[in-house]
Amino acid sequence: MKKNCVLIVMAILAGLSSHPAPAAPRDQPLALIPWPASVERQAGAFALKDGTALVVPIQGGADFAAAAELWAAKLADRHGVRLSVVQTRPMEARTCPPGMIITSGPDGCTRAEGAIVVEMSPAFLSELPPERAYQAQQGYRLEVGTSIRIMAGAGSGLHNALMTVLQLVEPGAPPQVPAVTIIDYPRFSWRGMLLDSSRSFEPPEVIKSYIDRLSELKLNVFHWHIVDDQGWRIESKVWPRLHEVGGTLAAMNTKKRIALDKNGWGADGRGYYTQDELREIVAYAAARHVMIVPEIDIPGHSSAMQAAYPELTCSGEAVPVRHGIGIFPSALCPGKENVYEFLDILFAELVTIFPAPYVHIGSDEVMAKEWMSAPANQELIAKYGYTDNAGLQSYFVKRVSEILKKHGRTMIAWDEVTDYAPEGTVIQAWRKQDYARVAAEKGLDSIISPVTHCYIDYPQLSFTLKNLYSFEPIPAGLDPKLLAHIKGGEVNLWGERVTLDNIDKKAFPRVIAHAEVMWSPADARDWDQFLDRLRPIKKDLKKRGTKFGKTWRDLLLLP
Ligand code: ACM
Repeated sequence: MKKNCVLIVMAILAGLSSHPAPAAPRDQPLALIPWPASVERQAGAFALKDGTALVVPIQGGADFAAAAELWAAKLADRHGVRLSVVQTRPMEARTCPPGMIITSGPDGCTRAEGAIVVEMSPAFLSELPPERAYQAQQGYRLEVGTSIRIMAGAGSGLHNALMTVLQLVEPGAPPQVPAVTIIDYPRFSWRGMLLDSSRSFEPPEVIKSYIDRLSELKLNVFHWHIVDDQGWRIESKVWPRLHEVGGTLAAMNTKKRIALDKNGWGADGRGYYTQDELREIVAYAAARHVMIVPEIDIPGHSSAMQAAYPELTCSGEAVPVRHGIGIFPSALCPGKENVYEFLDILFAELVTIFPAPYVHIGSDEVMAKEWMSAPANQELIAKYGYTDNAGLQSYFVKRVSEILKKHGRTMIAWDEVTDYAPEGTVIQAWRKQDYARVAAEKGLDSIISPVTHCYIDYPQLSFTLKNLYSFEPIPAGLDPKLLAHIKGGEVNLWGERVTLDNIDKKAFPRVIAHAEVMWSPADARDWDQFLDRLRPIKKDLKKRGTKFGKTWRDLLLLP
């Protein structure tokens, strides 16, 4: 079929699809993604005006105050409304008349009616068992009427509540929030996205804009795949050749380099983030309740590291920083003690940049042809009777987990290590979701991101938006007693084919659907209603510069 004919057929089919033109706003579902645990709508709306007070409890400390300030800034930016953020004062100073809250405002009292009042209270979820404590922390209660009342037990809960209000704001003069009562908390504690900046190397502003958009969708983990065969992208003061040799832009294809140059970043040939840039990004994410988990992929996928320090390979011969796509046949050497000394010094530095309690060590797709024959590994092979590379890798992973433990970090690794993962390792299931079940049966936690549903760099041909939206993260056959081992999941945006021009189109709208998969109750998911809610959110994101990928397979109603 000619291209024009295809387009016409697609347009007709799109018109015949199950999504009618928008009805009157009141009949529309609230434009919320992810959909909350419980929503009750009422008549009326709360008008947001210049000077409307946003009262934050002093017990919430800097965390609450920062969440309020951040949200007030977003509101001013998007709707032109300037709230007055005020903190309550301690109880003992209570002298305000009834209906007023004692605050640090100019006259010391703020009228509760007509204000947005935050209370530090997780009471609505107090019956939760310990393994679900994250729901009390990240959850909230929101009541919108003649005032707005928010109950949250922690800064992340308040942040999530405010992001809900942000989505609820209907533009107008003055903008308003529809009357509603929402009780909300996440299904999973770990709701993330992987970005591969080793192969695609985005400027800090792009990284920040991803973190910001994730946080508005209540996603809370940014898994940063920041080093690999094609580039080491972290400035290291302890091992400077890592970024000097491994952090090159030369390995990137011309199109990507031009895209970076066009934006005035990377034009100096620097192919790594400075420590100042990294610390700023980490702080930016923390303010949005997003944890940055760095992935230092070893012992394979580490050519850039080996190019910088050839003594880390078994042969001691340098390999180049790699170009293009592939799995490259070289790895760090499990039998060399200097490898562990190197990693110990390196991780001591990395934990000063990345404060998250987790470090991901990759350990996927290790192609180490020389391992079994390398003289450096013979002592280990003889001592432990290893018969293949998996044995040597199990030794490597155990040693690295001990180093990370010493530095106060929990190790995450891809599912290749499931059989021999040391106690406490978190497994990330990618080849098959079932690795999460196997891990749980061994007493290990896991993160779910199978290629079949979560590899968002893959084209539409691989899986549709509807496939992703319908994905059930709990693996089939998992003993319900082991449910708590499933921490949550991620969508993975690998960088081989990512440029600054296409990155958003790969991520959106898939990231939005993923946010609902990870947050909302399983039985609250509703595909048709999701598409209705997506429409205004997409419009708003597009208005602010996000590009969206085509979802033509979904429009054609293909499976
Ligand atoms: C992976 O996709 N190699 C984790």
